[in-house]
Amino acid sequence: MCGIIGYVGKREALPIVLDGLHRLEYRGYDSAGVAIHSGKGIKTARAVGKVAMLVEACDGKNFGGTAGLGHTRWATHGKPAEKNTHPHTDCTKSFYIAHNGIIENHDELRDELRAKGHTFKSETDSEVIAHLLEEEYRIFGSFEQAAQLTLQKIRGTYGLAMVSSYEPKKIIAARMGAPIVLGLGENENFVASDASPLLSHTRTVLYLQDGEMAVVMPDSYFVTTLDNKVVERGSETIEWDADKMQKGGYAHFTLKEIKEGPEVIENTLRGRLITENGLAKLGGLQSIEAKIRAVKRIIIVACGTALHAARVGEYMLEEYAGIPVEVEFSSEFRYRKPMIDVETLVIAISQSGETADTLEAIREAKRKGATTLGIVNVVGSTIARETDVGIYNHAGPEISVLSTKAYISQLAVLALLTVFLGRQRQLSLSMGKRILEELETLPPKIEKIFEQEQKIRKLAKRYAKYRHMLYLGRKYNFATAYEGALKVKEASYIHAEGCGAGEMKHGFIAMIDKAFPTVAIAPSDSVYDKMLSNIQEIKARGGRVLVIASEGDTRAIKLADDTLTIPKTLEMLSPILAIVPLQLFAYYLTLERKLDPDRPRNLAKSVTVE
Ligand code: M6R
Repeated sequence: MCGIIGYVGKREALPIVLDGLHRLEYRGYDSAGVAIHSGKGIKTARAVGKVAMLVEACDGKNFGGTAGLGHTRWATHGKPAEKNTHPHTDCTKSFYIAHNGIIENHDELRDELRAKGHTFKSETDSEVIAHLLEEEYRIFGSFEQAAQLTLQKIRGTYGLAMVSSYEPKKIIAARMGAPIVLGLGENENFVASDASPLLSHTRTVLYLQDGEMAVVMPDSYFVTTLDNKVVERGSETIEWDADKMQKGGYAHFTLKEIKEGPEVIENTLRGRLITENGLAKLGGLQSIEAKIRAVKRIIIVACGTALHAARVGEYMLEEYAGIPVEVEFSSEFRYRKPMIDVETLVIAISQSGETADTLEAIREAKRKGATTLGIVNVVGSTIARETDVGIYNHAGPEISVLSTKAYISQLAVLALLTVFLGRQRQLSLSMGKRILEELETLPPKIEKIFEQEQKIRKLAKRYAKYRHMLYLGRKYNFATAYEGALKVKEASYIHAEGCGAGEMKHGFIAMIDKAFPTVAIAPSDSVYDKMLSNIQEIKARGGRVLVIASEGDTRAIKLADDTLTIPKTLEMLSPILAIVPLQLFAYYLTLERKLDPDRPRNLAKSVTVE
């Protein structure tokens, strides 16, 4: 996601900050900016696009100064545009802030600040922080105190760095849910969102914990809690090499992004659950709530992984919202004569928001009078802009060509949409509550799946010798079979075929022999017994079977040659868990075959041509 670098010391700040921003580029971003204290005041530069554009924007300007901040922004609130690029400032241009995370109560804070005469220049949630600092400083005349009081007022997640024109040699940093690390040097100190921009300067670091604030100066620093209690914690030494740092310590973006799963689900759900009323709060849909209430039919268009998410959504929406749903390949939608009217809602699911076929499908749907809704990860992307309303995934940038974390966030969004539409219709309060409560339990459950990583690695060693594989699933996990197989094909180039378990006997079973193993997704759900029968049929033909079963299941485990387990959850949410071991399995199969999972041959991250 976004990146932060701050420097305070004796050297010229701008080159250090720009170098830090270059080293943060791997995180993915759409714009970048700096705020440098010249000693007399703060000078800034911001640019949409790459850090190289920011470097150009800084060229020829004399910044001077030995303290400053830089930020790479990944848009969440407000499209990528210069006005939305950090650092943001207050009305008096006395405070500049660089923020990672989401301020949940930004709407109410903005209203309060507007009532006090503040004017806002951006569409971001972050800008309220700068205005709050201005407000508190006016009362207390202390940067530290203003920062503490500001932090007490904001709700949500933040990794934050702040500078003030009143204090040329000070950066204040704070953490709540988004990482902040201090880099400790000789006569200079650093603040960053991860250690990668620090490594060329120091390996001595101190990680802030949630609810902590650090005051950082060239020769010293101190850490307090938000209620001003001093925190004593020793520094650590980083041993990682620079390349690994870029990937947060992981060997590949693919693994890093799979491992971000728990955090991704938290971010997708944040601020959207009104659990006590069994309601999902989807701000993007507010403007057309009445129109959506009248929807009689849904068509979901998508490609690749997003299409598999759509197939899970189809089951969720039909079962709990009671609305007929059709899922269409975006690439075929335009070539049919889809029956669309004003009571049809056409949903486009796209991580990138730029997939040409999905975009064209949406344009066609609009031409025919449908209401369009985008489930998109990249803020301000074309599909996000061209759909009537939208729900952002908030999964953060997905850099690996393999879509992993975006997929589980798409499923979480679809579950929220199901509750939203369901509660407008017949879904009961108790069932709405139950779904939301269960959604909240998913992050630790995903963590639990990661405990099997070494086992998955060993299984990958065993299965890497096969040239073909079959993936089987039913009902909610019908799509998991297709998505699990797609991951294997894309990255390891092993031929893997997804198949609805009920379809197997209608042809595919002819392929089964001991050289053609099967991965069967068989959690303890309403189609469990049928899945067991299918597994038996494969075993009877000499096929090896790896089963994804629910924890505590003994029958499937007895039948299978190999087993991976997932924690129990609601049937409709089981695809969010079931795909995780399959993503890891595909990742390790790819490593076994000495291939690069981040950059599979012939594939592009975003398919912008038809
Ligand atoms: O950006 P989109 O979600 O629209 O992309 C759709 C597909 O191109 C994408 O999911 C593709 O299948 C991935 N490589 C899957 O890992």
